[in-house]
Amino acid sequence: MTPAELIRHCSQALTQAGVAFGQGTLSANDEAAWLVLWALKWPLDTDTDTLTFQVSGQDKQAALDLLAKRIESRQPLAYLTGEAWLQGISFHVDERCLIPRSLIAEVIAHGSIDPWLNPDSTHALDLCTGGGSLAVLLALAYPQWHVDALDISADALAVAQINIERHGLQDRVFAKWSDGFLHADGKYDLIVCNPPYVNAQSMSALPAEFLHEPELALSGGKDGMDFIRGLLQHAPAFMTDDGILVLEIGHEIEHFCTAFPSLEVTYLSTSAGDEQVLLITKQALLS
Ligand SMILES: C[S@@+](CC[C@H](N)C(=O)[O-])C[C@H]1O[C@@H](n2cnc3c(N)ncnc32)[C@H](O)[C@@H]1O
Repeated sequence: MTPAELIRHCSQALTQAGVAFGQGTLSANDEAAWLVLWALKWPLDTDTDTLTFQVSGQDKQAALDLLAKRIESRQPLAYLTGEAWLQGISFHVDERCLIPRSLIAEVIAHGSIDPWLNPDSTHALDLCTGGGSLAVLLALAYPQWHVDALDISADALAVAQINIERHGLQDRVFAKWSDGFLHADGKYDLIVCNPPYVNAQSMSALPAEFLHEPELALSGGKDGMDFIRGLLQHAPAFMTDDGILVLEIGHEIEHFCTAFPSLEVTYLSTSAGDEQVLLITKQALLS
């Protein structure tokens, strides 16, 4: 059997089993390619010409075993492999933190925030950092910056520290325990936040895969806005005068607009839609 045939087989099996995607991949084909390449220990950017080589019986079995585990356990593939990728950067991941997939990574990579940043900016905060992916991406995008990475989960912060060290950023990215802004320190030019924002109704309908992620990372209360209310209230005290807040709200735009009807926001376009990541200035928060 060739890797291409294995990928086709796995893709069909994943589809037939009705597994859920959205935690690193968006389709059965992508998930199958990731699964097979991982099992074969081949890089994700493997030349597609080599997918027609024959694989050994042992390698084929390794891929089929991983496929069976993925289907039977409904564990997200990233937890089974211990690795997730965001904007081409690799992160350690395990069940102590959300699997990195924030759309804020896109706006950092595409430079969508840059026109809003004071050129003298030096300090950023990744509030609700989880496994630290956004803090790491910020530090890689802005090599002179100091980035604080705060979270209420000591478990998630342990993963963040692994990722900070994996990318050699210990001198510029600092993971610290904090409930909201409780232990935030100083004024930030940029605050990014991918908070728990899933509303109660959506929480009750989550596919099995998402139940493997920490509830604390997902659940935002009845309308998804529990954490965001406090965030918007307290953020100005931790922002420089021309500081900005970049906030992910996923599919919660209706709840957001109901909760904050007169707040002036700028929508940052992403591959998942135009109303899932918002930019808010300090001035808008104060007015
Ligand atoms: C949606 S996850 C985002 C994780 C990471 N930023 C990412 O994009 O992958 C939300 C994170 O918020 C954290 N969190 C929940 N309540 C918090 C609070 N009151 N203060 C700080 N962090 C909190 C959770 O532990 C979780 O890591």
